[in-house]
Amino acid sequence: MSSDPRPDVAVIGGSGFYTFLEDPKTVTVDTPYGAPSAPIAVGAVGDRTVAFLPRHGAHHEFPAHRVPYRANLWALRSLGVRQVLAPCAVGGLQPEHGPGTFVVPDQLVDRTTGRPQTYYDSGACHISFADPYCSRLRGHLLQGLSDQDPVDGGAMVVIDGPRFSTRAESRWYAAQDWAVVNMTGHPEAVLARELALCYATVALVTDHDAGVDEAGAVSMEAVFEVFRAHTDTLKTVLGGVVGGLGTDRDCACSHAVDGMDLPVTLP
Ligand code: ADE
Repeated sequence: MSSDPRPDVAVIGGSGFYTFLEDPKTVTVDTPYGAPSAPIAVGAVGDRTVAFLPRHGAHHEFPAHRVPYRANLWALRSLGVRQVLAPCAVGGLQPEHGPGTFVVPDQLVDRTTGRPQTYYDSGACHISFADPYCSRLRGHLLQGLSDQDPVDGGAMVVIDGPRFSTRAESRWYAAQDWAVVNMTGHPEAVLARELALCYATVALVTDHDAGVDEAGAVSMEAVFEVFRAHTDTLKTVLGGVVGGLGTDRDCACSHAVDGMDLPVTLP
């Protein structure tokens, strides 16, 4: 039984990862940005209270470009969440990152267009985003994945989708030395930072993207199948990581908006 009924940590599940907790309580939350992708499941992992939100909805109703990212992060924070672990499926851009590889990116490139990506629509609120992921959470993820030989770092380029990339686009991304490509990493990461949350992603390579030599066209079926095949491993790793997290956040994330005159009151 958890000692604190409010969740401090959340997992946002990706494609094919729709449940995480045993016997959760389901909490319906509304936000100034509408409803999150699904009611939020709250339950115990060891003595910790954890929130779980399936990013694409309980039945994958929301494709990446329609996910209510602002509502999702706001809802989690309003429940007490301050640390977010965000698994996602990605295409590998380099031949050495094949399906089944876990990558913990340390950089992000935004190639999306038109997604609402801020809570701060007035005034001068410019957060630092040079390092888009919480280094402390990244360390916990890498340690938790140590049996899986994870890739430490690399840039994740985020495309709008819902289509996959052309070979030319993919070759161009690879030529920049970017590691992986996906459709959900932005604006999720920046919204987390605007809410002064700790946030890190664990990317599971589900396919070689189309520009990698010898790779066929990316298929949705393959992406889902590979992700599904690794979901149990991911859940076990995340369960361990969540259990090992402290509650003291000795990183910069909690100070991300210190001193700013925010146009909204954070929940
Ligand atoms: N998610 C999983 N594989 C992907 C790919 N190749 N491109 C974009 N998003 C993805």
